Amino acid sequence: MKFSTKPVVIIGSGIAGLYLAIKLSEKINSEILLVTKANLGESNSRYAQGGIVGVLPENLPDSVELHVADTIKAGAGLTDAGIAEFISENSTEAIYDLVKYGVEFDKNPENRIQLTLEAAHSVKRILHSGGDATGRNIELALSHKVLNTPNIKIYQGIQAVDLLMDSDRRCRGVILYDSKTGEYEIVYANVTVIATGGAGQIYSNTTNPAIATGDGIALAYRAGAVIQDMEFIQFHPTALDLEENGSRFLISESVRGEGARLKNTDGEFFTQNYDKRGDLAPRDIVTRAIFFEMKEKGYNHVLLDTSSINKETLIERFPNIIKACKDHEIDILESPIPVSPAAHYIMGGIKISQEGKTTIPGLYAVGEAGCTSFHGANRLASNSLLECVVIAGEMAKNIAEQNLEVEPVKDCKSDCLLSQYEKHILSYKPDIEDYIRKLRETMWDKAGIVRNEQSLNQALKMINELKLEFNQEYRCRNINEYEFRSMLTVAELIVRSSIVRKESRGAHYRDDYPETSEHAYHSYISKEIFGTVKEVCDFTFSYKSM
Ligand code: FAD
Ligand code: SIN
Repeated sequence: MKFSTKPVVIIGSGIAGLYLAIKLSEKINSEILLVTKANLGESNSRYAQGGIVGVLPENLPDSVELHVADTIKAGAGLTDAGIAEFISENSTEAIYDLVKYGVEFDKNPENRIQLTLEAAHSVKRILHSGGDATGRNIELALSHKVLNTPNIKIYQGIQAVDLLMDSDRRCRGVILYDSKTGEYEIVYANVTVIATGGAGQIYSNTTNPAIATGDGIALAYRAGAVIQDMEFIQFHPTALDLEENGSRFLISESVRGEGARLKNTDGEFFTQNYDKRGDLAPRDIVTRAIFFEMKEKGYNHVLLDTSSINKETLIERFPNIIKACKDHEIDILESPIPVSPAAHYIMGGIKISQEGKTTIPGLYAVGEAGCTSFHGANRLASNSLLECVVIAGEMAKNIAEQNLEVEPVKDCKSDCLLSQYEKHILSYKPDIEDYIRKLRETMWDKAGIVRNEQSLNQALKMINELKLEFNQEYRCRNINEYEFRSMLTVAELIVRSSIVRKESRGAHYRDDYPETSEHAYHSYISKEIFGTVKEVCDFTFSYKSM
């Protein structure tokens, strides 16, 4: 085992981790360690298509009030209005900052930023880049900046596998695993930041790439952090319907924003039968409309009809979608796109404050792994990238004010954890691919778009069986095993939280409790504080001083 000490370690190089590293590097001289388990750019962020919300002053009649109202409405009673206001008010600055770091947003012929519409936004306010390559262009610009910043050190292909906690319940750093050499490095740090993104891979159908296995949420839970609202999983209505399971290519909501419409395979437009806002109703509603339409009529998919958008617009706005469909022998200029829903985003996560503080001193979180209650029970399209940037900016200010002098910590609790990673493990090799397949299929079938008491209990039973068979609580043999360990933990958090919430709200739909209760509450789960999931509505968390 190697040992090192750092003032700040950031885990994850999506938009949240990259932007934080850059902002922090402008405020402190000490070295910042940025760790990522894949290549620098590989992340959910890279695949973002639709764009990023910007409430630009020149874009009347848009306003912070209007954006906050749309966000709160989509959030189904669980959006924190203060956080929504804060993020919305800071959106213009965030956009200008991205431009400063080299992101080129698309412009119209008058050289003004071009804005598009997505579901449940009452005005056009979404900026995009490269047509439908917003995420890729942001990742490229921020990665370039990070690579050229002297006080940011980058570890690629290195996975965070556990957090180091001391006897005072303070986070002291992280255990890193190099999947190529099998070596471990213990990094003692004053500040540890989780920016590890979402967990779409827990489901057999997902728009998320392979890295999205919920590692950071699992690490924080193992360390005793409070985790919030895990039952709220957003299923995107329109992923390209392919035969194979696994990551599925997204057909951006902005295609509907530009005028495309959903029809069933009998050629009938159907979304207005479910909600009068039709194809641009909030995401959870359109997803359920497709789910029920497919179920009732026995379809494998529905069709996205782009014929009302003129071909020049399609070519200009969606070059990557056109190409991806072409790779699957679908010419979207001539025929509709077969689509069906897929797991896309997790609204819940590690409970954090506006500055990204978790309930554990020394540990911060940001981006999709965190939960500020901005998205509530259902995220409004293109609000995620914005949240990542605004919260990371605020976090950088907060971390820069901390005492970052590093003192290596020898502590019985962290020593005890390290000894678990020094142990030799038995040679029995679990069939990890089979375990992952079982977990993903179970989550899709039993804890997916529509759930109930019985299906959720069946999911929990399967998770418990897999836990018993896998039986790897600490040291694992390879990256797949570590990811599966995280996936099991996060799946259990989702299922337990879903069982507790005996109502339907936002993206959480239970057909045994189809109504929304009058009383809106968050669900919290923490190993150390509650032992199990607990419904809490008036619980106030103290984010202890660092
Ligand atoms: P990510 O971008 O997922 O980055 C996570 C990083 O953590 C990665 O670098 C990963 O390798 C690393 N990591 C994970 N685990 C570990 C570990 N154990 N050790 C070390 N490193 C680790 N949102 C919008 O607002 N607008 C959009 O248009 C949009 N389109 C989307 C399209 C698709 C196909 C998808 C999947 C999502 C989309 N979203 C969109 C959602 C948005 O992209 C994500 O919520 C956001 O990018 C999350 O950023 P992040 O930095 O938190 O995480
Ligand atoms: C999309 O382009 O449809 C995805 C946007 C988002 O998830 O915010």
